[in-house]
Amino acid sequence: ERLWLIVPAAGRGRRMGAELPKQYLALAGRPVLAHTLSRLHQAFPEACLCLCLDPGDAHFDAGWVPFDQWRRSPGGVERADSVRQALAALAGEARDDDLVLVHDVARPCVTVADLHQLLAVLREDSAGGLLASPVADTMKRDDGYERVSQTEPRRGLWHAQTPQGFRYGLLCRALHEAVASGLEVTDEASAVEALGLKPRLVPGRRDNIKITHPEDLALAEHILAAQQG
Ligand code: CTP
Ligand code: MG
Repeated sequence: ERLWLIVPAAGRGRRMGAELPKQYLALAGRPVLAHTLSRLHQAFPEACLCLCLDPGDAHFDAGWVPFDQWRRSPGGVERADSVRQALAALAGEARDDDLVLVHDVARPCVTVADLHQLLAVLREDSAGGLLASPVADTMKRDDGYERVSQTEPRRGLWHAQTPQGFRYGLLCRALHEAVASGLEVTDEASAVEALGLKPRLVPGRRDNIKITHPEDLALAEHILAAQQG
C-alpha cells in the first residue's frame, strides 16, 4: 500500500498582495514551498508526491523537491479543481484503498509529529480525517452589516487545517459528486461529509498556520524558529 501526497500550490496568493505568489516568498531564507515539502519529506520520505502547479508558473524550481518519486499536475481554477486534477494524474497507479494526504503548500509549519499522528489515525479509520484545533475565541455571526446577530456556541467548533487524508477511491468519488451537485468545497473533508461520512478531527498544533495575509510571513518565521529551538 502506497502513500500519496497531493500539495496544491497553484494559487496566486491574492490576499497576500505580494509580487510573487506566496509559495515563492522567502521564509527564513528559503521559499515557503521548499519548507513545506521538506517537512512532508521528513515525515514520509517514501511517499509519492503530486504537486499542483499553475501551467504558466515561471518561479518553480525542481531543486526544491526532496522526494525521489514526484510529478506535477496542472492547477485548476479553484483549489478543489487543482486537487481533482492531481487525483486524475494518479489514476491507473493509485489503488482505491491507498491513502492520500492533501496538504496546502501555504502551511510550512506542520510538524513531523502531527503528520505521523494523523497517518496513524487514518490507517484505522475508513472515513478519513484532518488535522484540526479547537476554536479559542468567542464566535459571532453578523447580520450582514457588521452588527452581531448571534453568538455561536464555541463548544464543538474546530479550525480545519491540512493535511486532510482519505482513501483514494473515496476522495475521488466525494469530489466528483461534489462537482456534480454544485457543492462549493473549500476542503476535501466537506466533500466527504456530503456523502454522509464523518471524518475524524485529529487534534493538531495551533501553530500549523496557513500563510494568507502579509503579517503571517513573520509569524511563520517565528514559529519555525521556535520549533527548531
Ligand atoms: N490553490 C491551488 N489552486 C487554486 C487555488 C489555490 O492549488 N486554484 C492552493 C494554494 O496554492 C494554497 C492552497 O490551495 O496552497 C490554499 O489556498 P489559499 O490559501 O486560498 O491560497 P491562494 O489561493 O494562493 O491565496 P488567495 O486565496 O489569497 O489568492
Ligand atoms: Mg485561495
